[in-house]
Amino acid sequence: MTTALLDLQAIDKHFPGVRALKDARFDVRQGEVHALIGENGAGKSTMIKIVSGVYQPDAGEIRLDGEQVHFANPREAQQAGIATIYQELGLYPELTVAENIFMGHAPIRKHGFFRAVDWERMESEAEDLLAELNIHNLDVGAKVGTLNVGNRQRVEIAKALSLDARILIMDEPTAALTESDVEQLFSIVRLLRERGVSIIYISHRLNEVFELADRVTVLRDGEYIGTHDVKDTSEGELISMMVGRTIENLFPKQDADIGEVVLEVRDLHRPPLTQNISFSVRAGEIVGLAGLVGSGRSETAQVIFGVLPAESGAILLNGEAVTIQRPSEAVEHGIGYVPEDRGHQGLVREMTIRENTTMAVLDSVSKNTFINRAKERLLASRSIKQLSIRATGSEQIVNKLSGGNQQKVVVSKWLASNPKLLIMDEPTRGVDVGAKSEIHRLMSQLAAEEGLAILMISSELPEVLGMSDRILVMREGRLVAEFSRAEATQEVVAHAMMSEEVRQAAGALA
Ligand SMILES: Nc1ncnc2c1ncn2[C@@H]1O[C@H](COP(=O)(O)OP(=O)(O)OP(=O)(O)O)[C@@H](O)[C@H]1O
Ligand SMILES: [Mg+2]
Repeated sequence: MTTALLDLQAIDKHFPGVRALKDARFDVRQGEVHALIGENGAGKSTMIKIVSGVYQPDAGEIRLDGEQVHFANPREAQQAGIATIYQELGLYPELTVAENIFMGHAPIRKHGFFRAVDWERMESEAEDLLAELNIHNLDVGAKVGTLNVGNRQRVEIAKALSLDARILIMDEPTAALTESDVEQLFSIVRLLRERGVSIIYISHRLNEVFELADRVTVLRDGEYIGTHDVKDTSEGELISMMVGRTIENLFPKQDADIGEVVLEVRDLHRPPLTQNISFSVRAGEIVGLAGLVGSGRSETAQVIFGVLPAESGAILLNGEAVTIQRPSEAVEHGIGYVPEDRGHQGLVREMTIRENTTMAVLDSVSKNTFINRAKERLLASRSIKQLSIRATGSEQIVNKLSGGNQQKVVVSKWLASNPKLLIMDEPTRGVDVGAKSEIHRLMSQLAAEEGLAILMISSELPEVLGMSDRILVMREGRLVAEFSRAEATQEVVAHAMMSEEVRQAAGALA
């Protein structure tokens, strides 16, 4: 049981200007869930891309079952029984569930000289695979493009199983899932472990590590820090291993003088996900918008920012009615917006950190359409320092940053734009503990010292409770509850988030 199925030793990996892994190591036993954690840019994704054949190490040794192996490409790793589920799922939306599962290895039927895909067998085998994972309500004939994220991920897992994977790698699998999808993912992971599959699990959520993993390995700055049995370690120990220091205050909320109303929305309406929404946010105030994924929080934020203009209702800024038909108009009125989907809405990934950071503040760095490079660079380096963005410098292309560091660029871009109102949709998703508390500290400071009004959407209840002066709860496109900071507890907010049916289903599961 203690011998390793997979063993990586003395791994080095360079990218231009970065040493992503230095003498790093990592081993996985058969039938264990092994969590790989560390700050943004620590080298986690690089490590698993080496395991899955996407990258080749500059130095070091990989052993599988005691034998040294080299994976020249992902296909070779796959043939050795290693399957990976990436954040950006690799499925074909136009094909069905069954076709995706059996892509590249469909059952074949022979008619004399002709060989053809055996569609019936493919569908029934796909059904069997899903049934093995206790997934019964997924139509194997449905096009993958019509499925939600949770179901698409289940298709990926079934696909890995159809390839007889012995090692399954998951890179931040819960980042975009609803709570019930997370529960279902956890039961699938446990089922696979019972069957002897080894799972490498990357996450920034330490509670998941404690709930799911057997062992945990910490990387810091590309180096191996240590491996522990999960039952013998604590959250505090893991955090100090990750950041090299202890973090005192996870939610450093400052008391702020709450001022005048900055944003007021009245009967904002764009069904189905924004129905007759009315609320306000004051200067210096952080208002948390809680709700389940799909309750309409992001859509409401997008209506206010002009991404999805309202059908009816009013938006008032500092008491004056404004019309916002597109994001540029929102920006002109002093609204900033950190979107949920950093990849598509937040960044221009082919441009540098400097260009991305200053995009929202072009006015302050440009004079007569002439952009002041030096000023831009100054702003960008300040952001890099403030949020410890791990990069070669302000001229690095955003695409080359680790996932969490890209999120930091989006956040700093809007913090630099001096907005009056800042809407933040999952501002710390995928961000490590150190940078997370730094983002929280900046939010709190801007609210308290500069009177910034903040509307924060978050699916993490501790973040909502820790950071908000007031909490609004949405459910099925409507505002259903409001709590002051003093009234709000995990229980009452969670209760308000759930509909009667969800409450019953959750009760039945417990
Ligand atoms: N293709 C690449 N080109 C250049 N640099 C890269 C490339 N991929 C990763 N890096 C750099 O290597 C370092 C490690 O990145 P990696 O993606 O492994 O971090 P991570 O631990 O997965 O972080 P996160 O938690 O943010 O996802 C970072 O400094 C990153 O910028
Ligand atoms: Mg990563």
